[in-house]
Amino acid sequence: MSEAARNFLAAQPRVILGHWPTPLQPCDRLREQLGGPRIWLKRDDCSGLAIGGNKTRKLEFLLGKALAEGCDGVITFGALQSNHARQTAAACAKLGLSCDLILTRAVPRSDEFYTGSGNVLLDRLLGAHLHIVEDSDAAFEKFAELYEAGQGSGRQLFGIVPGGSDSTGVLGYVQGSLELAEQVESAGLDLSTIVVAASTAGTAAGIVLGAEIANLNAQVRVACVYEPASVTGAELDSLVAATAADLGCAIADPSTWSVSDAPLGEGYGIPTQAGQAAIELLATTEGVLLDPVYTGKAFGYLLDLIAQGQLDEQRDVVFVHTGGSPGLFAYGPIFAE
Ligand SMILES: Cc1ncc(COP(=O)(O)O)c(C=O)c1O
Repeated sequence: MSEAARNFLAAQPRVILGHWPTPLQPCDRLREQLGGPRIWLKRDDCSGLAIGGNKTRKLEFLLGKALAEGCDGVITFGALQSNHARQTAAACAKLGLSCDLILTRAVPRSDEFYTGSGNVLLDRLLGAHLHIVEDSDAAFEKFAELYEAGQGSGRQLFGIVPGGSDSTGVLGYVQGSLELAEQVESAGLDLSTIVVAASTAGTAAGIVLGAEIANLNAQVRVACVYEPASVTGAELDSLVAATAADLGCAIADPSTWSVSDAPLGEGYGIPTQAGQAAIELLATTEGVLLDPVYTGKAFGYLLDLIAQGQLDEQRDVVFVHTGGSPGLFAYGPIFAE
């Protein structure tokens, strides 16, 4: 099973956009302070492509497909401070593709930090065309308008779903898990758990499948930061099933992953105290930057699991650092206080 899946993966069109492998780094000072299991960071925040992050891996497969189909431009979606949008803009700049970003006001903020700094500033710098709309209905209308206009003028545009989470994007994290499995083996880790943030759930789906293909034997704990666990869990299940079908492998054993929305707090893009404390702790012990929307909340969840004694203290835990640090600037005021 694993051989067929690996062959399928190797046969897919892919364009290299990142720096691989990303480091797997122990958090020794943090552990001295906390006790508990050894925590390792899978540094996908160092993946390259305009400040890095998890989208680099997905975009390698998505844009590999776009180029194979002869596309000359990309349209994608996100919230105003979307990291996916920023990384797509960077990839398009590198590949000479046009980039239209349809950004929704999913987070109730209209201050200058949120609307002009962080990822939005970088999107503009990277040469993307920004279309700011109220909600997802307006976003899909805008997509249809841009796509039809492109067709009318002989363009071939490639649409990428929010977060790049379809069965092509998920392959990025199947590949990422295989990379992680090699590092776990060569560093001699006794891995019990992988913790990762989820919004559109493509990253988590790829990790679940890749962990199964590589026989990582770890529990994947998914921290919801966008929707409640019921919604994220359903997305995750369907992405795992669709990608497993493409890979020709069995659907991963559902007992190997679990989904929690304890980290979400009041909602997407609304910082939590636990997330903020996690950001400050990792910054001051390890010199590593998390973000208030995704990784801060997910790392706070990991700290909570440790505090509750839910993780085996004798074994290793990997936190997949999915990036997002430009978001720190959009949330400047919470750190200034
Ligand atoms: C920094 C960061 N971490 C995690 C995620 C979640 O990834 P996914 O949408 O694949 O669940 C995102 C998605 O936008 C992100 O930007």
